[in-house]
Amino acid sequence: MNILVTGGAGYIGSHTLIELIEAGHHPIVVDNLANSSEESLRRVGTITGVAVPFYEIDLRDKDGLENVFQDNAINAVIHFAGLKAVGESVAQPLDYYQTNLGTTFSLLEAMERHNVTSLIFSSSATVYGDAKTMPITEDSQTGIGITNPYGQTKFMIEQILRDYSVAHPDWNITLLRYFNPVGAHPSGKIGEDPSGTPNNLLPYVTQVAIGRREFVSVYGDDYDTVDGTGVRDYIHVVDLAKGHVAALSNAQPGVAVYNLGTGKGTSVLELIHSLEKAVGKAIPYKVVERRNGDVATNYASPEKAARELAWKAEKTIDEATADSWRWQSMNPEGFNNSTS
Ligand code: NAD
Ligand code: UFG
Repeated sequence: MNILVTGGAGYIGSHTLIELIEAGHHPIVVDNLANSSEESLRRVGTITGVAVPFYEIDLRDKDGLENVFQDNAINAVIHFAGLKAVGESVAQPLDYYQTNLGTTFSLLEAMERHNVTSLIFSSSATVYGDAKTMPITEDSQTGIGITNPYGQTKFMIEQILRDYSVAHPDWNITLLRYFNPVGAHPSGKIGEDPSGTPNNLLPYVTQVAIGRREFVSVYGDDYDTVDGTGVRDYIHVVDLAKGHVAALSNAQPGVAVYNLGTGKGTSVLELIHSLEKAVGKAIPYKVVERRNGDVATNYASPEKAARELAWKAEKTIDEATADSWRWQSMNPEGFNNSTS
């Protein structure tokens, strides 16, 4: 199938391109490079031997997007494009609402004009807000206790897509709720390349390990968890990417929702110690105050995806940290000036 991948130059999108190509699909990328670099697409070409067609446009550019749909006979869309930094979304709420909702609107309009009726949307475990019963199943409460505009955009887009499905019941819409994506392609050629200070734990820890930052701040060690530090469900990005390929081949009319996680919780200190094994040296850290808005524990029930998509995460935390370290050490400055 010809698959339009919005945000395909980004972290999860670029890894998904590889899995799509390996499964025999033909991806086409639209990205405005707001948080990525074209180098990631060049690297995907090196890994797969396939040059993925790329359109550098803002998805909200309706004429530009129309050209993409006219140039390509698109069969399905995977919609990764959007802004994703939680803290930034608190400081710049309008940017987040305009970008995340606006890109989705112009995409749906273009799909409708061209009778493309299959869509996979990147949602997030953030829609579960302060849900407390673990593991989190897809029918857990959503929308209550979401603490930031980024999370609200995911919750709103899910609702918009449900309303859209009522009006267009023949469309296949899949909402994939990711838990915490980590790791990198095992080649070390592509990975997560945050601009500025990383918001997420593992990219921060790898930057400490490579010497770009002094120590990791561990946000609290007095939670009711195995060692007092926060517990999350870290899923290897290659497993996550494969989940999209599985969802594509299982698309059915209506809205289907799946958690993509491992079902296993890992604490902050366990993650740091796993990376220490990959690096072969101690990683300095200091315990500081809890971070506002954090929950103690969050992990998925991945059973529905296993049952209906025949997909489950295969890779371990140690593989994820080893792959992240390979990417970080081969590319100390990310895609800029890197050696691979
Ligand atoms: P990313 O920032 O690496 O990728 C998003 C891509 O979208 C970037 O390449 C960016 O340039 C592009 N983009 C942004 N605005 C655009 C616009 N207006 N037009 C065209 N392209 C635009 O992020 P990622 O980690 O790969 O996340 C992909 C998706 O998954 C996002 O929707 C994100 O919210 C969601 N998600 C991510 C995580 C995570 O922790 N990484 C967790 C849950 C959900
Ligand atoms: N943490 C630290 N130090 C850091 C960064 C994080 O101790 O420097 C801890 C956090 O307190 C938390 C864990 O590491 O216990 C993971 O934190 P992340 O910021 O990596 O991930 P979150 O689970 O907080 O956030 C993720 C996504 C968000 C999404 C949210 C809810 O990054 O996009 O899950 O699903 F909104």
